[in-house]
Amino acid sequence: MPFLSDTLSRVKPSPTIAVSNKAQELKAAGEDVIGLGAGEPDFDTPQNIKDAAIAAIEAGKTKYTAVDGIAELKQAICAKFKRDNNLDYTPDQVSVSGGGKQVLYNALMATLNPGDEVVIPAPYWVSYPDMVLLAGGTPVVAEAQLQTGYKLTPEQLEAAITDKTKWLIFNSPSNPTGAGYSREELKGLTDVLMRHPHVWVMTDDMYEHLAYDGFEFCTPAEVEPRLYDRTLTVNGVSKAYAMTGWRIGYAAGPKELIGAMRKIQSQSTSNPSSVSQWAAVEALNGTQDYIATNNEVFKRRRDLVVSMLNEIEGMTCPTPEGAFYVYPSIGGLIGKTSAKGTKIVDDEAFATALLEETGVAVVFGAAFGLSPNFRISYATSDAELKDACERIQRFCAALS
Ligand SMILES: Cc1ncc(COP(=O)(O)O)c(C=O)c1O
Repeated sequence: MPFLSDTLSRVKPSPTIAVSNKAQELKAAGEDVIGLGAGEPDFDTPQNIKDAAIAAIEAGKTKYTAVDGIAELKQAICAKFKRDNNLDYTPDQVSVSGGGKQVLYNALMATLNPGDEVVIPAPYWVSYPDMVLLAGGTPVVAEAQLQTGYKLTPEQLEAAITDKTKWLIFNSPSNPTGAGYSREELKGLTDVLMRHPHVWVMTDDMYEHLAYDGFEFCTPAEVEPRLYDRTLTVNGVSKAYAMTGWRIGYAAGPKELIGAMRKIQSQSTSNPSSVSQWAAVEALNGTQDYIATNNEVFKRRRDLVVSMLNEIEGMTCPTPEGAFYVYPSIGGLIGKTSAKGTKIVDDEAFATALLEETGVAVVFGAAFGLSPNFRISYATSDAELKDACERIQRFCAALS
């Protein structure tokens, strides 16, 4: 009898975390490494949020809380949904967990039965397919193309839906591409969902506030209010408020689903950190001014990276609407050989050779379900980004 579960054998560890670990190891060993793998802002958590956490500790708010969030945070979340998305939710429609990751996991655990299918547009955030597998469901990957800026078309969504489809996981702006769907593009997808009343939508709005050039963020239940009763709107404080380590994510949706997610959480982790919840109250209710300031920095970095990568022959890098990632295609480089003799057979070989020969750590596209590409996270200093892009340029120029 094997000791480890069969379920475990179906999932793989997160490749993005693996790249970050590898880059850190090399750095610790004294190598000159620039890590562009991590999916987190390099900014510090704003002071008002830290102060709220310190005040919570001082006030003894350090005990267990309600399993899926304190009332004050649920109120702040309802106010946020109204303010930013014109969505009406009541506190009993809200669930708070240890990061957006746990929210998504709870929702899948609460709803999937063997044979249930989940449509996942590719390129996708690495955890979606594995979470679906862990929850006993079947991921159905629908590939978006470079030509549409890595956005799924209504026809592609229609083709992926079967009578076994339970969810569409939707993510805009996207990790790994940064692609953000316009209202019109999203309406095209919600029109398809209106024709399939058995399909629910889990929308991962984690990068809502990280958008550039006047991009107008929108979310499915707002674009198509008739989807409200079968939408789980997921968001969190990790990215916009530079709070990745605090572990607070949240969702709003139909009460029955929220209750089922609470049940899972009550028998697994219980409440997310009480102190982090108080910090999140301040993040959502306090000033939002620094988001625009941070976005100016992100936009500048995005423009730098996109222009430097597009100078490389054989590489195509679209300009994304949001998040802090770019997802260049390296179709023109496959089959070449690096200066140190590595054959670039695929994007994993490219990323490995790039790290070994130049010290630049990126994540290969196959990890996100669409090749040949790689992902750069530009949430690092301008100087490092410029250095990294110059190294990539030199590496590619030396390919033969
Ligand atoms: C698309 C997407 N969803 C969810 C998450 C999870 O965020 P959290 O840190 O809140 O768990 C991430 C983090 O990288 C992400 O990129």
